[in-house]
Amino acid sequence: MSAGALRGGTNVTQRLRVAIVGCGGISTAHMEALAQIPTVTVVAAADVDAQRLQRFCEQWGVSAGYTDYRALLAHERPDLLGICTWEHTHCEITLAAAESGTRGILCEKPMALNLHEADLMIQACDNAQAVLAIGHMRRYNRHYRKLKELIDSGELGQIMHIRAYCGGWDIFLWGTHYADMLYFLNNDQPVEWVAGQISWQHRGMAYPYSEVYRQRMGELFVAEDDAIGYMRFANGVRAILETGVHSPQDWQARGTLGGQCTVTVCGTRGAAIADDGNIRYCTGASSDWVSGAAPADEEERAAHWRQQFISEWQDLVAAVQSGREHPLQARRGRAALEMIMAIYESSRRRAVVELPLAVQDNPFLSMVQQGLI
Ligand SMILES: NC(=O)c1ccc[n+]([C@@H]2O[C@H](COP(=O)([O-])OP(=O)(O)OC[C@H]3O[C@@H](n4cnc5c(N)ncnc54)[C@H](O)[C@@H]3O)[C@@H](O)[C@H]2O)c1
Repeated sequence: MSAGALRGGTNVTQRLRVAIVGCGGISTAHMEALAQIPTVTVVAAADVDAQRLQRFCEQWGVSAGYTDYRALLAHERPDLLGICTWEHTHCEITLAAAESGTRGILCEKPMALNLHEADLMIQACDNAQAVLAIGHMRRYNRHYRKLKELIDSGELGQIMHIRAYCGGWDIFLWGTHYADMLYFLNNDQPVEWVAGQISWQHRGMAYPYSEVYRQRMGELFVAEDDAIGYMRFANGVRAILETGVHSPQDWQARGTLGGQCTVTVCGTRGAAIADDGNIRYCTGASSDWVSGAAPADEEERAAHWRQQFISEWQDLVAAVQSGREHPLQARRGRAALEMIMAIYESSRRRAVVELPLAVQDNPFLSMVQQGLI
């Protein structure tokens, strides 16, 4: 069923009107999710690429298509907006949507290019009393939720250390999910300090999608070969976030844990390791390792993936209708961005940096632009 189709018994006039800006790869996940939510209807879409826009509108039965998102906002006045465009456009689209009266915005990750943009987005949405959520949807993944349950229940004892790595990927586009995951697992405790380093020997070409991203973002795209951040949270937990070509890429060999990035938690009574596809843990209750249930097949894996997007939209609807806080609220998206900017800044200063971070630029981008790296 298309996202715009009627559902039995629901009055169209009561539904929230949704629009999507950006009709590329990730918009499919959002449309599949929206099709499962009876209280919304997708009324319009925008994309600067007219052909892509047309294909999208035909595929999903969306009647109004715009090549200029500002025209969409002016004519359609959607209640909710999904921003599925490239990262350097997230800020300007969010500001325009808040100004035009959109009540709820789900913006893809990473939130913005730098903290200055992120603050403008939060300020604009606060001023307009609009809900802004950032698409770190792995907070809804059942294996990471199980991991958090083990932590919160005390079964792993006192948490000493958390390590997240994404072999082969960069820290900004991919690492953002795991910066957010460190906060999620640690109950959104503040980070006190970060020691970070990045390498740029291949001048971004080691990143598998460098060419694609350069076409999208031009000179604004930079991806390091490797990045590592070591940090301390206010509750004493230490964490490492690691990405890049030299980060472990053993996930294909591990069988039951089928994700591309992995999180390991060590406590005084046990340890656990999880990724998108499964979890294994060993607690004080037993010396044996216990495995969770991996998806039985591709269909189940796809259903789990889709559920994360359904949940973020359902929570946006609830936040707009009842004032409930969104679990992916923008301040959490900003915190993940701040952690990444702190890793870049530590590399720029060659020193440990304390948070909150005062820098407004993207230190990595600045270093590249100024020839300092
Ligand atoms: N949550 C996830 O796991 C996940 C996965 C993939 C991508 N993403 C994020 O989603 C966003 C989009 O990624 P994608 O892979 O779908 O990219 P994509 O290139 O496939 O699609 C983006 C679309 O946005 C359009 N666009 C760009 N600027 C625009 C503008 N100003 N107005 C209207 N349309 C515009 C492009 O023409 C393109 O069709 C990125 O921020 C990316 O990081 C998130």
